[in-house]
Amino acid sequence: METTLIILKPDAVQRGLMGRIISRFEDKGLQIVGLKMMTISKDLAASHYEAHNAKPFYNALVSFMTSSPVVVMALRGNNAIAVARKMMGATFGSNAEPGTIRGDFGVSNSFNLIHGSDSPEAAERELGLFFKPEELQTWDRACECWVYDLSAGKPE
Ligand code: RTP
Ligand code: MG
Repeated sequence: METTLIILKPDAVQRGLMGRIISRFEDKGLQIVGLKMMTISKDLAASHYEAHNAKPFYNALVSFMTSSPVVVMALRGNNAIAVARKMMGATFGSNAEPGTIRGDFGVSNSFNLIHGSDSPEAAERELGLFFKPEELQTWDRACECWVYDLSAGKPE
């Protein structure tokens, strides 16, 4: 089981898309183990996007991410990182596939609604940036045995 860090970016919150985007992940079967609304500080945005700090879009990206509240979410599931990235779609809304979050809800390349960790290493780092350990819940989901086939002792 993996846990991934999702951010509903300022445009998703401002456009009233929080519920619909969260519902997609619940509908898929990913388990929410952390959820909160916050305003990202410049320092936190800089840490989160440090890999991009030499890119031409970096200043605009930090400015966007700190401009208005976001929702941060920790999602748990089998291959949760790849599953969530596939549901998000390509980076730019203008060419994200219909059926994906970016493809269905946005057309902008800069305002692309959602962030998702792109590797296990990134997920661990990003979860640590946005959540205190006690803010992540370990809870038994009543429907777990209908979300996954657990008969072989591991989720399939
Ligand atoms: P994210 O990190 O936010 O989940 O998005 P991503 O992996 O799909 O894309 P990434 O390459 O990591 O870029 C991070 C964010 O920077 C903005 N961006 N703007 N104008 C541009 O050329 C450009 N390229 C990237 C987007 O907000 C992107 O999500
Ligand atoms: Mg990225």
